[in-house]
This record gives sequence, structure tokens and C-alpha cells, in this order.
Amino acid sequence: MFQTRVTQLLGIEYPIVGGCMMHISTPEFVAAISNAGALGMLASAMYETQEEFWEAVRRVKSLTDKPFGVNLSLFPALRPIDNELYVEVILEEGVPVVETSGHRPPEDLLARLKAAGVVTMHKCVSVRHALSAQRAGVDLVTVFGSEGGGHIGELGLSTLVLVPLAADALEIPVLAAGGIADGRGFLAALALGAEGVTIGTRLLLTEECPIHPDLKQALIEARETDTLPILGTLHNTLRAWRNEAALKVAELEQQGADLWEILSVAAGTNTRRMLEEGDVNGGVLACSQGVGLMREVKPVAEVIRGMVEEAREILRRWGGATNGRTN
Ligand SMILES: Cc1cc2nc3c(=O)[nH]c(=O)nc-3n(C[C@H](O)[C@H](O)[C@H](O)COP(=O)(O)O)c2cc1C
Repeated sequence: MFQTRVTQLLGIEYPIVGGCMMHISTPEFVAAISNAGALGMLASAMYETQEEFWEAVRRVKSLTDKPFGVNLSLFPALRPIDNELYVEVILEEGVPVVETSGHRPPEDLLARLKAAGVVTMHKCVSVRHALSAQRAGVDLVTVFGSEGGGHIGELGLSTLVLVPLAADALEIPVLAAGGIADGRGFLAALALGAEGVTIGTRLLLTEECPIHPDLKQALIEARETDTLPILGTLHNTLRAWRNEAALKVAELEQQGADLWEILSVAAGTNTRRMLEEGDVNGGVLACSQGVGLMREVKPVAEVIRGMVEEAREILRRWGGATNGRTN
């Protein structure tokens, strides 16, 4: 059940991708997601040197024999990213899947990856960008609704509207992302025409997720109203958890602060410290409205299996409810 072109192309058991999460998607966490039957996604931007990235890829390979992916960021970054260095490692190590997120993936990069047999994915926030990624030659597209945690772009489209439009417009398989945190969201995404989902925030509340326990506790207590979009003034809108750091960024933006003032709060170094030390107001954390649906920390495998089982159960219920009826 739930076998789709996504499970086929990615070689995974369930049509679920564990979205890459900056500072969080360590090799151990990525491998745990892949071992659970989903697709773990390493965040290449976490590694400043080719050697460190190489080591991370080898570590994932030592922890799982299941498929996993590497995300290449095309977002504007303070530290210039040379994706070519990561691609060398990807090809050398035979990484099976590469995801790009941000701007349109460069065609030459895609062509090289595809020639080496790598499955390519692109994550974007509009049908127009999804079509452009399809034209550029990607195998799969994730469309990301603005209720999700991370870089949601400036359009503010919801998953409920974006996914069916993308599924209608595209020939390649579509994955849905944004606000999916349980089996109901997973099944709804499939009903909308997606052939898989990409989830991020739900995976923060797993035993294997390498963030401080105090932060996990705070996220258990967070509600669906506890997120806000920030960084719009930098044209890099991010849905974040409503903590003191995110509120400070919002205030600075309202006051017309410049990039450096904003970064003094929103910098990745602050986020990393918060994740490691548990100072829950110390940095900005990407976070979905789906956080309101999350109540407990579980092993990754239970979260993934639980989503699929809940979806099956709903189908059984509806199948039972309509059996033998014609209206
Ligand atoms: C803490 C966190 C960090 C993230 N970091 C990245 C990132 O570095 N690059 C990226 O493409 N997406 C990133 N995302 C987005 C996820 O990969 C995924 O698309 C998103 O979380 C799906 O929406 P959801 O949070 O509603 O499940 C991040 C999300 C979270 C929650």
C-alpha cells in the first residue's frame, strides 16, 4: 500500500522524505530516517569543507544500506557555497539521490548528476518554479506550502492549494510539504495528488533528533499559533518558531534594520548554540504550524510507521463507511 512513483524512483518503503534540516540533519539522524523506510536527506551546507562533507557521506553509508539523499542549497548564503565540491563527493561516493532547494536548479549540474544515475529532486514554493524545474530535467518535485517550517518564499500559498495545482500541471511525480505532521496530513496529501510527502518539523520530536531535550520539551508545548514568518525584508521568508529571537528579528525588520543587525540575532551560529545548549530563546528555529499537532517524542521509526498506519486506518474506516452504498 502507498507504493507510488516516489517509492519506486527513490527505492524506499514508504513515500516519505525526511526533509533536510540545517544544523540538525547529521549523518546519524539521516541514517535513522532511511533505516525507518523513508528517505533521509543530508544538508551539505552544514559542511564547510569538502573533507568534512566527504566524511559525513561515508558516515551515513556506514550506518545504513538504504537509499539516502543530499540537499544542495541554492539559497543566497553569507558563506559562498561551491556546490561543485559537494557534487564531486556525491558522484565519487555514489549518493543515490540529490535534492536542490531554492532557485531553479542549474541544468548542467542536473545533467551531470543524471548521467551518473543520480535521482534528482527539487523543492520549491510555486507551480511556476515546479514547471521550470521539470523543464530543467529533475525527476521529482516537492512543492512546499507556507504553513511549513523553513524557507517558504514570499507567495504565501498553502499546501492544500499548491499540491493539486502542481499535480495537475506536472508530468513528473510531486511530493507535498508543509504542515504534514501525522497520518491525516499524509493521506490528505496523497488525496490532493501528491505521490509522497516531505516532512521536517515532525521529525524534530524524535528520539534520534540531535537537538537539546529542553528544546524538544518547548516544542511539545508549542501550539499551531506559535510560528511566524520572518526575514521577508531580506526576500528570504522563513517560517520560524515564535520564540524571543524570532520576535526580535520581526521587530528589527519592522524598524527597517539592515542585514547585519538582523543577522546578529538570526545567524546560524546562534541557532546552533540553541540546538546544542538548549537556550530556547537564543536563536531562530525554522518551524511549521504543524508543531501544534505534535504531542510526544518517539523513535523515528515509530513516527514514520505511525503515519502510514494512521493513513491505512482512515482508509479502512472510509472504505467500511461507503461499502455497499451508492450515494
Ligand atoms: C529546523 C528546520 C530546518 C530546516 N532547514 C532546511 C534547509 O537547510 N534546507 C531546506 O531546503 N529545507 C530546510 N527545512 C525545510 C524541510 O526540509 C522541509 O521542507 C519542511 O520542514 C517541511 O515542512 P514541515 O516542517 O511542515 O514538515 C528545514 C525545516 C526545519 C523545521
